[in-house]
Amino acid sequence: MPKQPNVRIAPAKGKLGVLIPGIGAVSTTFMAGLEAIKRGLGEPIGSLTQMATIRLGKRTDNRSPLIKDFVPLAKIEDIVYGGWDIFEDNAYQAARKAGVLDPALLKKLKEPLSAVKPMKAVFEQEYVKRLNGPNVKKGGSKMDKAEMLMDDIKNFKKSSGASRLVTIWCGSTEVYHTPSKVHSSLKAFEEGLRKSDPEIAPSQIYAYASLKSGVPFANGAPNLTTDCAALMELARERELPICGKDFKTGQTFMKTLIAPGLKARMLGVRGWYSTNILGNRDGEVLDDPGSFKTKEETKLSVLDTILQPHLYPQLYKDLYHSVRINYYPPRGDAKEGWDNIDIFGWLGYPMQIKINFLCRDSILAAPIVLDLVLFMDLAQRAGLRGIQEWLSFYFKAPMTAPGLYPEHDIFIQLMKLKNTLRWMKGEDLITHLGLEYYD
Ligand SMILES: NC(=O)c1ccc[n+]([C@@H]2O[C@H](COP(=O)([O-])OP(=O)(O)OC[C@H]3O[C@@H](n4cnc5c(N)ncnc54)[C@H](O)[C@@H]3O)[C@@H](O)[C@H]2O)c1
Repeated sequence: MPKQPNVRIAPAKGKLGVLIPGIGAVSTTFMAGLEAIKRGLGEPIGSLTQMATIRLGKRTDNRSPLIKDFVPLAKIEDIVYGGWDIFEDNAYQAARKAGVLDPALLKKLKEPLSAVKPMKAVFEQEYVKRLNGPNVKKGGSKMDKAEMLMDDIKNFKKSSGASRLVTIWCGSTEVYHTPSKVHSSLKAFEEGLRKSDPEIAPSQIYAYASLKSGVPFANGAPNLTTDCAALMELARERELPICGKDFKTGQTFMKTLIAPGLKARMLGVRGWYSTNILGNRDGEVLDDPGSFKTKEETKLSVLDTILQPHLYPQLYKDLYHSVRINYYPPRGDAKEGWDNIDIFGWLGYPMQIKINFLCRDSILAAPIVLDLVLFMDLAQRAGLRGIQEWLSFYFKAPMTAPGLYPEHDIFIQLMKLKNTLRWMKGEDLITHLGLEYYD
């Protein structure tokens, strides 16, 4: 029998407002998807919150409700959305340019998508070298810009009638930066905002403005953003959830499926070469070495953490791992990825695995955006604050408490996610020990 819930979860009353910096391929595919689903023109495939069940109790209990019936999530019909971009295109025009969804489908959704007109962005070209656009906030210090964003957030809440908000970064990947002194504490960060410290990235100004406005923040790109002491401190102080970084789709998703399997069977890996072609705006931004470096860091870290070469030196010590992204405009959003994996087995005999993934990045990312905003809203209503490690399932470079290595194995991540939901509701955690079936 279910026990008392471990946490009190406030009901999902009223509308949930989703605020998105970056009205590009991913965010418009998400928005168009919501509208298509509301009209019965499509199914939320790829979304755990909409399609997955969760087993409760013993296997013999036959209790496997849908996740959305088990925990109180906002409904798709109750989601409203808005955002910022450096370009003036509304979400319909941006979706047409992104070229992910069929124009005939988009035409049916023209009215709601055209109504999403991007608010003026906080932007610095130093952070995204390949882009420049007219729809940007001008003048003032970085603190002034943060205050302008806070006004935008307040106005959006009022005009949309939302009772709760979540922000999710779907903006371009910013150039590689590591935390500096200005990120070491909230005090230093606020001082840096007032002095327009160049180490504070635009995405961090959005994150600061969101958290200061009482809004949880998720980061879909690999930039540092909330992954620094200052903004973690703010999230804890304001009792708000944060999570990131970099949606786990495409090639890295495949890596986190295959690498744990090879390791589970104690098979060695000598080399893993991954290359991609893609031709969307994301590909153009990643063509800049600074933005690519940010992406490369998150992509490379995955194998090391899964394979643990320090524990299995005979199998993984000499692994050569290389990741390439090539901008190739003819492909648009229809990316193609190739992996060549050199593995070895019994007595060191070599074998090879080749993967050719013709994936659609934004089609894989849109359900992740949906799940993250629904779970972040749930986390907030459940009083969870700071880094939400149980949402690692969705990220290439999961944020963790300082000093803790991230868990990349997708099946461990899924178990952690579902156990967190069970824990919230006071259900037994599933350990898969299963001795009780054989007593
Ligand atoms: N598609 C995927 O599967 C996937 C997976 C992981 C991560 N991501 C990341 O998600 C992000 C979005 O991807 P996308 O394919 O939609 O890219 P996109 O280029 O189509 O969209 C990004 C948008 O962000 C805007 N932008 C840039 N800086 C901004 C700022 N400071 N404020 C407001 N808007 C800003 C750009 O003008 C652009 O319209 C990228 O960082 C990408 O690396 C995507």
